[in-house]
Amino acid sequence: MEIFKTAAELQKFALDAKRSGKIIGLVPTMGYLHAGHASLIDIARKKADIVIVSIFVNPTQFGPTEDLDKYPRDFEHDLELCTQHGADVIYAPAPDAMYEADASTWVEEVKLSKVLCGVSRPIHFRGVTTVVAKLFNLTLPDIAVFGEKDAQQLLVIKRMVRDLNFPVEIIAAPLVRQNDGLALSSRNRYLSETEKSNALVLSQSLYAARGAIESHGLEGVDLIIEAMKEKITAAGGRVDYVEALDTANLEPPTAETKEVLLALAVFFGTTRLIDNQIIQVK
Ligand code: PAJ
Repeated sequence: MEIFKTAAELQKFALDAKRSGKIIGLVPTMGYLHAGHASLIDIARKKADIVIVSIFVNPTQFGPTEDLDKYPRDFEHDLELCTQHGADVIYAPAPDAMYEADASTWVEEVKLSKVLCGVSRPIHFRGVTTVVAKLFNLTLPDIAVFGEKDAQQLLVIKRMVRDLNFPVEIIAAPLVRQNDGLALSSRNRYLSETEKSNALVLSQSLYAARGAIESHGLEGVDLIIEAMKEKITAAGGRVDYVEALDTANLEPPTAETKEVLLALAVFFGTTRLIDNQIIQVK
């Protein structure tokens, strides 16, 4: 496995690989890797000749009061996980190797980014699309794998790829959970044991809502969402949002809606967790 720390080294490697006809797969991450990330690497491994995993805590997607400085890091463990799952290249740049001090160009998606997480994190998706566009230019991937854990991010990236004609196939990977239902996340590490067990209300209420929507359709969805909020609040969570939106446009569902994203963001203590279900509507 090769480790690159600079954009120039990585881009040269990718150009050479491309010229020799290799299929390149990219898995962008912020490190502190867990089984959710590993599942993305496994998918890339099956589809690509060369699997590149980027590990970069991207400063531009964190707001001024967010957890950039305390975001968990464990590079040794990340290397081990990447080796075990057959990655060929790790790209782990320092922030100044990724952004020029006077960088003044953004890639911004301005519709899907404005709802759900975009309301409380207004600059977040602009940071994500910019860094992902840069990673695409540095790694020239044929495929790139993103998790449904961050369902809105996935939709925003697919829209960016469509709108800017990136020659990259975006592959969606299913959300990986603990046995007890908690969605795996690097941020779970911030939770106390009590908060962790209280947070189980998220997956439980999402599954219950999914069942109700699958059997009764979207008629009673507002009531379902109100009930979810009450249950989550009773378990000690502070709701940022719980919403059901059409995955085609992230607008409220209509009679034409085929699939909804039922998504939530909830604070337990100071930790903000996200979780979701993608539900087919009859
Ligand atoms: P990060 O939170 O490290 O996640 C990297 C990738 O792993 C994302 O595509 C995310 O959806 C996926 N992932 C995380 N937890 C998962 C889980 N439990 N099941 C399935 N997939 C999971 O998302 C980011 O980093 C950044 O925004 C990034 C895209 C790297 C840009 O900086």
